[in-house]
Amino acid sequence: MASAKQLVAVAVVAFLLAAASGRRQPVHLRLYMHDVMRGPGTTAIHLIHGVGPPHDIERGGYFGDTAAIDDVVTEEPDVGSPAVGRAQGTYMLASQHEEVLVVAVTVALTAGPYNGSTFSVAGRVGVYDDKAEAAVVGGTGRLRRAAGYLTWRMVKLVVSEGYVMVELDVHMSVPVSAAAAAGGNWPVICCDRVLGRLAQRKKYARGNW
Ligand SMILES: *[C@@H]1O[C@H](CO)[C@@H](O)[C@H](O)[C@H]1NC(C)=O
Repeated sequence: MASAKQLVAVAVVAFLLAAASGRRQPVHLRLYMHDVMRGPGTTAIHLIHGVGPPHDIERGGYFGDTAAIDDVVTEEPDVGSPAVGRAQGTYMLASQHEEVLVVAVTVALTAGPYNGSTFSVAGRVGVYDDKAEAAVVGGTGRLRRAAGYLTWRMVKLVVSEGYVMVELDVHMSVPVSAAAAAGGNWPVICCDRVLGRLAQRKKYARGNW
Protein backbone atom coordinates (compact mmCIF):
# COMPACT_ATOMS: atom_id res chain seq x y z
CA MET A 1 0.00 0.00 0.00
CA ALA A 2 1.25 3.47 -0.85
CA SER A 3 1.73 5.64 2.18
CA ALA A 4 0.00 8.98 2.48
CA LYS A 5 3.41 10.61 2.04
CA GLN A 6 3.97 8.79 -1.27
CA LEU A 7 0.53 9.78 -2.51
CA VAL A 8 1.22 13.41 -1.67
CA ALA A 9 4.58 13.17 -3.49
CA VAL A 10 2.82 11.77 -6.58
CA ALA A 11 0.29 14.58 -6.44
CA VAL A 12 3.08 17.16 -6.18
CA VAL A 13 4.85 15.70 -9.22
CA ALA A 14 1.60 15.74 -11.21
CA PHE A 15 0.96 19.32 -10.14
CA LEU A 16 4.43 20.50 -11.11
CA LEU A 17 4.31 18.72 -14.49
CA ALA A 18 0.93 20.28 -15.21
CA ALA A 19 2.22 23.71 -14.18
CA ALA A 20 5.29 23.28 -16.39
CA SER A 21 3.21 22.16 -19.37
CA GLY A 22 1.02 25.25 -19.15
CA ARG A 23 3.89 27.72 -19.39
CA ARG A 24 5.09 29.07 -22.71
CA GLN A 25 8.54 30.20 -23.73
CA PRO A 26 8.77 33.20 -26.08
CA VAL A 27 10.90 32.72 -29.22
CA HIS A 28 11.96 35.66 -31.37
CA LEU A 29 13.76 35.09 -34.68
CA ARG A 30 14.66 37.58 -37.39
CA LEU A 31 15.32 35.78 -40.65
CA TYR A 32 15.82 36.64 -44.32
CA MET A 33 14.41 34.59 -47.20
CA HIS A 34 16.01 34.82 -50.63
CA ASP A 35 13.78 34.22 -53.67
CA VAL A 36 15.94 33.65 -56.76
CA MET A 37 13.63 33.36 -59.76
CA ARG A 38 16.20 32.96 -62.55
CA GLY A 39 19.61 31.53 -63.26
CA PRO A 40 21.63 28.62 -61.93
CA GLY A 41 20.83 29.33 -58.26
CA THR A 42 17.06 29.41 -58.83
CA THR A 43 15.06 28.74 -55.64
CA ALA A 44 11.59 29.95 -56.72
CA ILE A 45 9.76 28.60 -59.77
CA HIS A 46 6.56 29.67 -61.46
CA LEU A 47 4.60 26.49 -60.90
CA ILE A 48 1.05 27.35 -62.00
CA HIS A 49 0.05 29.93 -64.59
CA GLY A 50 -3.35 31.31 -63.61
CA VAL A 51 -5.99 30.82 -66.30
CA GLY A 52 -8.15 33.79 -65.33
CA PRO A 53 -8.15 37.27 -66.84
CA PRO A 54 -4.92 39.27 -66.70
CA HIS A 55 -4.29 40.72 -63.26
CA ASP A 56 -5.43 44.32 -62.73
CA ILE A 57 -2.07 45.56 -61.47
CA GLU A 58 0.58 42.86 -61.68
CA ARG A 59 1.91 43.23 -65.23
CA GLY A 60 2.07 39.87 -67.01
CA GLY A 61 0.44 38.20 -64.01
CA TYR A 62 -2.77 36.23 -63.73
CA PHE A 63 -5.03 35.61 -60.76
CA GLY A 64 -4.00 32.20 -59.39
CA ASP A 65 -0.36 32.34 -60.46
CA THR A 66 1.53 30.13 -58.03
CA ALA A 67 5.22 29.82 -57.25
CA ALA A 68 6.94 26.98 -55.42
CA ILE A 69 9.88 28.05 -53.27
CA ASP A 70 12.87 26.35 -51.70
CA ASP A 71 14.59 29.52 -50.48
CA VAL A 72 17.82 29.84 -48.57
CA VAL A 73 17.20 31.44 -45.15
CA THR A 74 19.89 33.52 -43.42
CA GLU A 75 20.17 35.55 -40.22
CA GLU A 76 21.94 38.43 -41.95
CA PRO A 77 20.30 40.48 -44.72
CA ASP A 78 22.86 39.14 -47.21
CA VAL A 79 22.34 36.22 -49.57
CA GLY A 80 26.03 35.29 -49.18
CA SER A 81 25.88 34.97 -45.38
CA PRO A 82 25.72 31.52 -43.78
CA ALA A 83 22.43 29.68 -44.31
CA VAL A 84 20.46 28.84 -41.18
CA GLY A 85 17.60 27.04 -42.94
CA ARG A 86 15.31 26.71 -45.94
CA ALA A 87 11.85 28.17 -46.51
CA GLN A 88 9.75 25.73 -48.51
CA GLY A 89 6.19 26.11 -49.78
CA THR A 90 4.05 28.17 -52.12
CA TYR A 91 3.00 31.73 -52.89
CA MET A 92 -0.26 32.26 -54.79
CA LEU A 93 -1.42 35.51 -56.38
CA ALA A 94 -4.70 35.34 -54.50
CA SER A 95 -6.35 38.67 -55.33
CA GLN A 96 -7.62 39.71 -58.76
CA HIS A 97 -7.30 43.40 -57.97
CA GLU A 98 -4.41 43.76 -55.50
CA GLU A 99 -0.82 42.56 -55.36
CA VAL A 100 -1.59 40.13 -52.59
CA LEU A 101 -0.09 36.70 -52.06
CA VAL A 102 -1.43 33.91 -49.93
CA VAL A 103 1.57 32.05 -48.57
CA ALA A 104 1.96 28.57 -47.13
CA VAL A 105 5.59 28.21 -46.10
CA THR A 106 7.43 25.98 -43.65
CA VAL A 107 10.83 27.15 -42.43
CA ALA A 108 13.19 24.28 -41.64
CA LEU A 109 16.04 25.49 -39.42
CA THR A 110 19.46 23.88 -39.91
CA ALA A 111 21.64 25.79 -37.44
CA GLY A 112 21.50 27.38 -34.01
CA PRO A 113 19.44 26.33 -31.00
CA TYR A 114 16.49 25.27 -33.20
CA ASN A 115 18.51 23.19 -35.66
CA GLY A 116 16.25 20.35 -36.84
CA SER A 117 13.04 22.16 -35.88
CA THR A 118 10.48 23.77 -38.18
CA PHE A 119 7.74 26.38 -37.97
CA SER A 120 4.89 26.86 -40.42
CA VAL A 121 3.56 30.15 -41.74
CA ALA A 122 0.15 30.80 -43.29
CA GLY A 123 -1.38 34.09 -44.30
CA ARG A 124 -2.10 36.88 -46.72
CA VAL A 125 0.65 39.35 -47.48
CA GLY A 126 0.69 42.47 -49.63
CA VAL A 127 3.81 42.28 -51.81
CA TYR A 128 4.65 45.97 -51.21
CA ASP A 129 3.14 46.24 -47.75
CA ASP A 130 5.75 47.24 -45.15
CA LYS A 131 3.63 45.91 -42.30
CA ALA A 132 2.23 42.67 -43.73
CA GLU A 133 1.60 40.01 -41.11
CA ALA A 134 1.13 36.28 -41.33
CA ALA A 135 0.40 33.65 -38.70
CA VAL A 136 2.78 31.11 -37.23
CA VAL A 137 0.39 28.18 -37.18
CA GLY A 138 2.57 25.45 -35.70
CA GLY A 139 5.96 23.82 -35.53
CA THR A 140 7.93 20.67 -34.94
CA GLY A 141 10.82 19.54 -32.74
CA ARG A 142 11.77 22.24 -30.24
CA LEU A 143 9.16 24.47 -31.87
CA ARG A 144 6.36 21.92 -31.45
CA ARG A 145 2.98 23.64 -30.96
CA ALA A 146 4.50 27.02 -31.83
CA ALA A 147 1.99 29.85 -32.12
CA GLY A 148 2.38 33.51 -32.95
CA TYR A 149 2.81 35.85 -35.86
CA LEU A 150 5.45 37.37 -38.06
CA THR A 151 5.88 40.50 -40.07
CA TRP A 152 6.69 39.86 -43.74
CA ARG A 153 8.54 42.68 -45.46
CA MET A 154 10.19 42.81 -48.86
CA VAL A 155 13.51 44.52 -48.16
CA LYS A 156 15.21 44.09 -51.54
CA LEU A 157 13.99 43.70 -55.10
CA VAL A 158 16.32 43.39 -58.09
CA VAL A 159 13.98 43.04 -61.07
CA SER A 160 16.79 42.47 -63.57
CA GLU A 161 18.01 39.44 -61.60
CA GLY A 162 14.59 38.15 -60.52
CA TYR A 163 15.76 38.47 -56.91
CA VAL A 164 13.68 39.29 -53.85
CA MET A 165 14.77 39.35 -50.21
CA VAL A 166 12.04 39.12 -47.57
CA GLU A 167 12.57 39.88 -43.88
CA LEU A 168 10.61 37.70 -41.45
CA ASP A 169 10.40 39.10 -37.92
CA VAL A 170 8.99 36.12 -36.07
CA HIS A 171 7.32 36.42 -32.66
CA MET A 172 6.11 33.09 -31.39
CA SER A 173 5.96 31.01 -28.25
CA VAL A 174 6.21 27.31 -27.56
CA PRO A 175 5.05 25.31 -24.55
CA VAL A 176 7.91 24.77 -22.11
CA SER A 177 7.02 21.08 -21.95
CA ALA A 178 7.25 20.60 -25.74
CA ALA A 179 10.63 22.29 -25.86
CA ALA A 180 11.88 20.34 -22.85
CA ALA A 181 10.87 17.04 -24.47
CA ALA A 182 13.20 17.76 -27.39
CA GLY A 183 16.23 18.49 -25.15
CA GLY A 184 18.75 21.25 -25.78
CA ASN A 185 20.18 24.16 -23.85
CA TRP A 186 17.46 26.30 -22.42
CA PRO A 187 15.08 23.35 -21.84
CA VAL A 188 17.72 21.93 -19.50
CA ILE A 189 17.56 25.16 -17.52
CA CYS A 190 13.80 24.73 -17.40
CA CYS A 191 14.11 21.12 -16.24
CA ASP A 192 16.69 21.94 -13.61
CA ARG A 193 14.24 24.43 -12.22
CA VAL A 194 11.42 21.91 -12.22
CA LEU A 195 13.65 19.25 -10.66
CA GLY A 196 14.78 21.78 -8.05
CA ARG A 197 11.17 22.29 -7.13
CA LEU A 198 10.60 18.54 -7.04
CA ALA A 199 13.56 18.22 -4.67
CA GLN A 200 11.66 20.39 -2.24
CA ARG A 201 8.67 18.07 -2.24
CA LYS A 202 9.15 17.05 1.41
CA LYS A 203 8.75 20.68 2.37
CA TYR A 204 5.59 20.87 0.24
CA ALA A 205 4.32 17.62 1.73
CA ARG A 206 4.49 19.21 5.14
CA GLY A 207 1.76 21.52 3.94
CA ASN A 208 3.69 24.66 2.96
CA TRP A 209 1.65 25.24 -0.21
C1 LIG B 1 22.36 20.58 -37.30
O1 LIG B 1 21.96 19.29 -36.91
C2 LIG B 1 22.46 18.26 -37.77
C3 LIG B 1 21.80 16.97 -37.35
O2 LIG B 1 21.90 16.76 -35.98
C4 LIG B 1 23.96 18.25 -37.69
O3 LIG B 1 24.49 17.25 -38.55
C5 LIG B 1 24.51 19.59 -38.12
O4 LIG B 1 25.91 19.64 -37.95
C6 LIG B 1 23.87 20.72 -37.29
N1 LIG B 1 24.27 21.97 -37.87
C7 LIG B 1 24.74 22.97 -37.14
C8 LIG B 1 25.17 24.17 -37.91
O5 LIG B 1 24.81 22.95 -35.92
